[in-house]
Amino acid sequence: DIKGFVFDLDGVITDTSALHSKAWHKTADEVGVTWTTELDNGLKGISRMDSLNMILAAGNKENDYTQAEKEKLADEKNDYYIQLVDAMTAADILPGIQSFLDSLVENHYQISLASASKNAPRVLDKLGLSDYFKKIVNPADLTKGKPDPEIYTKGAELLKLPPEACIGIEDAEAGIDSINAAGETSVGLGDKAILKDADMVFATSRELTLGHIADNME
Ligand code: BG6
Ligand code: MG
Repeated sequence: DIKGFVFDLDGVITDTSALHSKAWHKTADEVGVTWTTELDNGLKGISRMDSLNMILAAGNKENDYTQAEKEKLADEKNDYYIQLVDAMTAADILPGIQSFLDSLVENHYQISLASASKNAPRVLDKLGLSDYFKKIVNPADLTKGKPDPEIYTKGAELLKLPPEACIGIEDAEAGIDSINAAGETSVGLGDKAILKDADMVFATSRELTLGHIADNME
């Protein structure tokens, strides 16, 4: 029986994935790496430093920067990202998400957050959703990022639930792999061709309802 829901944030609850992309695209331009859709998709769900390293590797430039220079590039990306986040309001919650969260509360499901983003509490605050997420995995405590199962395993542990009792919700391939490896049921939001390993995929957050999930459970 499902008792809890473990959420990704960026690209699931709000379209911050577009803001991360915008900020990383700027970094890629600065370091002279060609920005492609493939690179963009590969960065989704990946931690800040891993993302920067992926961008540099895409241009075979991973050895061109010292650790201190990499940290500066990552800090600059984050400063720009935060500017974009600070302009967000409740109007930026993706369609259907708040009513889905309300339906979970009403039906006594437990809720936690498994976002790789260190800015997650700030984003939730801007959206006015902090009250739903009392349990947040701290990405600073992780030894491995998505697609490793660690973050989703911790998301279930915060709820004191076994993985089989949890559903994880993701927009990224690395996130779906993490949920599956943790032994939870995976729900993908987005393109079925990219999220091919998810237990079920809905094209948009509008389709994310308890009824639709129940229809797709085995
Ligand atoms: C993930 C996003 O949720 O968090 C990535 O999908 C992002 O795009 C990562 O890079 C880390 O976020 P932050 O806010 O800690 O730089
Ligand atoms: Mg995401």
